Amino acid sequence: KTAEFKELLLKEFHRVLMSDSKVFTSGLESQNPYDVKYDRGYVKQLSRGEILCALGKVAVRTVESEDEPFASLGYRIPKDPLQKHRMFNTCAIVTSAGALLGSRLGEFIDSHDMVLRFNNAPTENYTEDVGSKTTFRILNSQVATKPEYKFLSDPMYKNISVMIWDPANYSSPLDEWYRHPDFPVFRVYKNLLETQLGADVHLLYPQVLWDLWTVLQDSSPYRLRRNPPSSGFIGLWFAIHRCNRIRMFEYVPSVHATRRCHYHASGDDTGCTLGAWHPLAQEKALAHRMSDNADLDVFQRGFIDVPGIKAVHC
Ligand code: C5P
Repeated sequence: KTAEFKELLLKEFHRVLMSDSKVFTSGLESQNPYDVKYDRGYVKQLSRGEILCALGKVAVRTVESEDEPFASLGYRIPKDPLQKHRMFNTCAIVTSAGALLGSRLGEFIDSHDMVLRFNNAPTENYTEDVGSKTTFRILNSQVATKPEYKFLSDPMYKNISVMIWDPANYSSPLDEWYRHPDFPVFRVYKNLLETQLGADVHLLYPQVLWDLWTVLQDSSPYRLRRNPPSSGFIGLWFAIHRCNRIRMFEYVPSVHATRRCHYHASGDDTGCTLGAWHPLAQEKALAHRMSDNADLDVFQRGFIDVPGIKAVHC
């Protein structure tokens, strides 16, 4: 059953990637909203070590207090880097996938040294399935700015480390990004820095998104959507820099996958699991290739194990 499911899933990744690539080879400018420039080189099936090294080369970088225009505009960006560059032994990355509902993985998740969650995914009322510990959240700029998510006031975002991402155009310098963010994230960030002194909240340096996208595209024979990777992939990239071992839950879909998008909200959408806007199928195909645990863990228990970059010689 596990082997059958695995074969079907890998075929499904290919089917999605192939049908996406047909749309994205149409050459329409509208298919490239961030003006991504990419020269196709030789595509190679990368080994686990090579993928880790490629992602390891993309350094963790956030907007710093000396970066313009933030310095001149009086942003009090913390001098301490995100989590003070702390290293963790074991890390759990909890996606928001609907498949986590009823999983009873909560205790197992909480046993990790660092627990990373995304956006507005709650633990309250779901602790049996997703645990209660949160060390770190990665937020997209929609969640950071839309009033319904209450980013500045909800206790869910307090006393933890937070990284917010918003895409800039592929070649845009920071001041251009500052003038044209996808969502108005800067005034929220300034407000937070002024009202929550000492908060470990940082903005991802936007070029990182395109460096990660390039790793995804370099390792795929198909043309990918020219949109940033999902928060999930950003989390995996971050964790391989900061953790000796990573366990990521329901990113590579298991037999428990359903049409449900989020464990914390009703609503079906298979695009959440296989990709609608982000190059998610390639992210997941790559994450699967990076994993080194048994198929039974991946497809029945619902998690992949990935070593941190410290474990490989690049
Ligand atoms: O939807 P949202 O971005 O808040 O979910 C957080 C992350 O969880 C996504 O960026 C994606 O990587 C992952 N996810 C998933 N499958 C789903 C829903 C979310 O892999 N069905």
